[in-house]
Amino acid sequence: MTTTPNTSTESAPASPGRPLPARPMLIAGGAGHTGSRVAARLIAAGQPVRIASRSTTERLDWTDPSTWPAALDGTSAAFIAYSPDLAFPGVPEILFGFAERARQAGLRQLVLLSGRGEPGARDSVEAVRAAGVPTTALYSAWFAQNLSESFLVEQVLAGEIALPAPDVAEPFVDLDDLAEVAALSLTSDGHADRDYQLTGPAALTFAEAGRMIGDAIGSRIRYRPVSRAQFAAAGTAAGLPAADANGLAELFAAVLDGRNSLPSTDLEQLLGRPATAFGVFVERAAAGGAWTVGSGADA
Ligand SMILES: NC(=O)c1ccc[n+]([C@@H]2O[C@H](COP(=O)([O-])OP(=O)(O)OC[C@H]3O[C@@H](n4cnc5c(N)ncnc54)[C@H](OP(=O)(O)O)[C@@H]3O)[C@@H](O)[C@H]2O)c1
Repeated sequence: MTTTPNTSTESAPASPGRPLPARPMLIAGGAGHTGSRVAARLIAAGQPVRIASRSTTERLDWTDPSTWPAALDGTSAAFIAYSPDLAFPGVPEILFGFAERARQAGLRQLVLLSGRGEPGARDSVEAVRAAGVPTTALYSAWFAQNLSESFLVEQVLAGEIALPAPDVAEPFVDLDDLAEVAALSLTSDGHADRDYQLTGPAALTFAEAGRMIGDAIGSRIRYRPVSRAQFAAAGTAAGLPAADANGLAELFAAVLDGRNSLPSTDLEQLLGRPATAFGVFVERAAAGGAWTVGSGADA
């Protein structure tokens, strides 16, 4: 994200005779693609939030446990978007420590953003649950917004999506749907300790996704399978630390094998409406200038 989020949405202290204000909910990793959307939904519903990451006023750094108490203390529950990826080695240990501290701070619920079909991501969910705070796991498909505001936007603009995988079908989930489920999980009963599989309504291949975006913006976007080394090299050239680029290459090569192609109906059941179709995402993103050169999307 290129903008600094407003992190000042906590309520003022109650005055005498007035009810105590609601404790804020923590949005950990809240400056990013998912957290900012979850925060916006909670704020719109009148729920105070505390957004925390390395760049916010209430600083939270996953690699620095000394920052965790100030982020957690005084909050009632938390949404967690771990960055760079909760499936990476060593993350279950970090998230267990964070969830332990959350239990000590008295949080009643955690909602953890996770990935579908990734053994490392499941380990992270289990580590968080082991700390004892009821935890909702959002096992999510690939975000449609990876193509419009995240690490694939430059590839789309260059006319070629290149991943270390065959052209498998993926039921891309829209981040606004995901954020709605996260906010619902935090603000209504019955979601603690539940597992949700969050996908779009149908699977399409990366070549099909590229064609649909290309049709909308009047260009040709093809799909090219590349080796892990090629994908990792492109990632480091784009500014990723080598360890993260290699980790993502390994992760994508492993999980983009068709294991996650089947869509789930969890999102529709939770929201009482169909999940957003990829075509609708494309229309909205194109109308919002996502693929207009100079629109400011962070690659
Ligand atoms: N992309 C997908 O298709 C997909 C699908 C399923 C699951 N997921 C999972 O989603 C998670 C990422 O979510 P996202 O895309 O919403 O996140 P994101 O936008 O990539 O990042 C969220 C925020 O994390 C903060 N951050 C980075 N390093 C940090 C650190 N060391 N300590 C504290 N904060 C840090 C950054 O803000 P600051 O710079 O301010 O710190 C960033 O804005 C990953 O765990 C991934 O496995 C992704």
